Amino acid sequence: MSHEILIIEDSVLVSMSLKDLLEEKGYSVSVCETAKESAKILKKTDFSVAILDMMLPDANGRDLLKKWKKSYPDMAVIIFTAHGDIDSAVDCLKAGAYDFLPKPVDNIKLLSTIENAIKHSALSNQVVVLKELRKRSDSGVLNKIIGDSPAMMEIVNLAKQVAQSDYSCLLITGESGTGKGLFAKTIHKAGKRKDKPFVEVNCSALPATLIESELFGHKRGAFTDAKEDKIGLFEMADGGTLFLDEIGDMDLALQSKLLKVMEEQTFRRIGDTKEIKVDVAIIAATNQMLEQHVECGKFRMDLYYRLNVIPLKLIPLRERMKDVMSIADHFLMEFSLKFGKQYKGFSKDAVKELNSYAWPGNVRELRNVVERGCILSQSDEINTKELMIPKDLTATRSENFAIPPLPLADIEKMVIESAMNNSDGNKNKAAKVLGIHRTTLYKKLEEYGLD
Ligand SMILES: Nc1ncnc2c1ncn2[C@@H]1O[C@H](COP(=O)(O)OP(=O)(O)OP(=O)(O)O)[C@@H](O)[C@H]1O
Ligand SMILES: [Mg+2]
Repeated sequence: MSHEILIIEDSVLVSMSLKDLLEEKGYSVSVCETAKESAKILKKTDFSVAILDMMLPDANGRDLLKKWKKSYPDMAVIIFTAHGDIDSAVDCLKAGAYDFLPKPVDNIKLLSTIENAIKHSALSNQVVVLKELRKRSDSGVLNKIIGDSPAMMEIVNLAKQVAQSDYSCLLITGESGTGKGLFAKTIHKAGKRKDKPFVEVNCSALPATLIESELFGHKRGAFTDAKEDKIGLFEMADGGTLFLDEIGDMDLALQSKLLKVMEEQTFRRIGDTKEIKVDVAIIAATNQMLEQHVECGKFRMDLYYRLNVIPLKLIPLRERMKDVMSIADHFLMEFSLKFGKQYKGFSKDAVKELNSYAWPGNVRELRNVVERGCILSQSDEINTKELMIPKDLTATRSENFAIPPLPLADIEKMVIESAMNNSDGNKNKAAKVLGIHRTTLYKKLEEYGLD
């Protein structure tokens, strides 16, 4: 990206030779002779650096500088002064000039001053971003949750109430990517337990027996692999919060153990007889319909009722489209800081697209889209082509967006079926197309009854 430089100088001879010099170095240069002209140009372009002659036909350089510092605080201003006029040079520095150079101008000195000024302004932009981020995180932890749609504000208010109450358990539900993990952590951080541990465990990530020993710990010799005593997550979370993510996947036997701990606040390590007392708040989260799990016997009704005393229901992003741009801007700021680049914003078309997409992956998907935009963007603006939003899922087109996601297995079956058809039933060929081993394909064919 080439930096824009503005030269305001009433001697055309001087300004033209500077323009040549700077353009040769890859800068984009605009030139004007008067303060009046400069006002017009400044409205149209964002300049990184302005080079200002102290004596203009229609204005005093110092007055102009003061005006600019208010309207264009990010633009670095380098002043040309008459040789020996130290007083006015000092004045200009006080008024916010980046540097001054005496006339006649030394080209090498000028180039290095410009380079430094650009670096400096990039840095000060980053400081602005940093300050803004800090302000956001200081003004109450719950403010990191962005969104001012009525629906979101209602949820945040409920979350604030919960955090300040003496809650012992809480159930957060919502589609994937709606912010369940974020809410869990934030509620913990906003409550009385904030200085105590927040311990997270994903109930679908491990087999049930492993989760049991993770949660409760075990005594040495409790089972073959138990070489040492091990303290469990319940003990680690003592005084704080245990976050049980994907609770819908928890095994039934473990569910009853969990219920018992919640009711009695005591448990035993596996293979141990000693009762251990803990004080742990439980926050559980799921993207599944727990009621349905209860109906078909996959989830204990008593545990469900216990957890559901305080339900926090996060709504999909497509049902609060008003939040899209404020969340997108928030992520843009985050990535500005991360990538050390100052993005101005999204182009008009990009905003339109962000606002008309249905966001099946919710806020997580929005975050990924903004990140990709920032990485791919060649300028300080994010355009549609850099966002790469899928075209077939727009919110406007599918107002009642209710396509249930296909189970992975169904998708796999469909893919295998079509690979077999395309290979005229030749299994070797189909396996190659699918990029899996022949024996794996045999197994899958049997599993799906496609043989
Ligand atoms: N309202 C919000 N404001 C700012 N960031 C948000 C908001 N909601 C979600 N996020 C961010 O979006 C991402 C996804 O959120 P999170 O991981 O909490 O979703 P989740 O509901 O737990 O998803 P999953 O069910 O897939 O685990 C995170 O980076 C989170 O910080
Ligand atoms: Mg999560």
